[in-house]
Amino acid sequence: MGRLRRELSLSWSAVRGYPLISLLFALLFLAALVMGVLVGGLQQFAVVAVVAALGSWAVLRLRVARGRHGASRAGRRRAALITVAAVGVLTLALAQLVPYGRAHSNPPVTGEPEWATPETRELMEQACFQCHSNLVEYPWYSDIAPMSWAVQSHINGGRSEVNYSEFATDPGNADETIEVLQDGSMPPAYFTRFGRNPEAILSDAELKQLIAGLQATPGLAGEDEGEYGADED
Ligand code: HEC
Repeated sequence: MGRLRRELSLSWSAVRGYPLISLLFALLFLAALVMGVLVGGLQQFAVVAVVAALGSWAVLRLRVARGRHGASRAGRRRAALITVAAVGVLTLALAQLVPYGRAHSNPPVTGEPEWATPETRELMEQACFQCHSNLVEYPWYSDIAPMSWAVQSHINGGRSEVNYSEFATDPGNADETIEVLQDGSMPPAYFTRFGRNPEAILSDAELKQLIAGLQATPGLAGEDEGEYGADED
């Protein structure tokens, strides 16, 4: 109990000692929450922000605990800013060491659907192959964590639902292809946010053309298995 009280009082001194930085942390947490929960798809940034914020806070708290948080306000502020910058850079540097998302895998293509027309395949390539194929062109930012983690998790998540490059051996949920286009849930909103991947935003005419092409492509419409309850999981 005594320890907890000491901890709380230390934290409170840290907040009072570094009001600007504390506000910054509060905003960072809020931003992380908004990105992770509301926007979705970029939770990996939230993880890095939270780790950096907690790390900085721990260092500053240590300074307060040791009574080394500087006499003047300007001195405290400078120390806090240097700490946050240093911990931020260190966190990003350590993030680069995580192997996840580094391999940029593209397993062999075992067999695509028998696309009704070349245009059908082209539109699918434009809008879907970046996550649902073994022909992924990894963008430059997929070399840099935490973006690399986000890209890899979208690709893994997409491939595990349906991989059009392995359609012949495992169609997965390919029979929901037309459905997700009609309800507008694919490509996911985060994929085209911030001006990324504009080619994946299909015009009304392209969408109509694509759906017609998919209806004429075996295995993508889901009629032969029944619209609902086609898959058990
Ligand atoms: C940025 C990566 C990405 C792109 C681009 C993308 N998908 Fe997906 N897709 C996913 C992920 C991740 C899932 C699984 C989780 C989910 O539903 O969000 C998924 C799920 C699916 C499913 C399974 C049903 C479902 O709703 O979960 C289908 C079918 C599908 N996608 C089709 C498509 C089609 C068709 C396109 C192109 C118009 C497309 N996807 C573009 C990532 C992507």
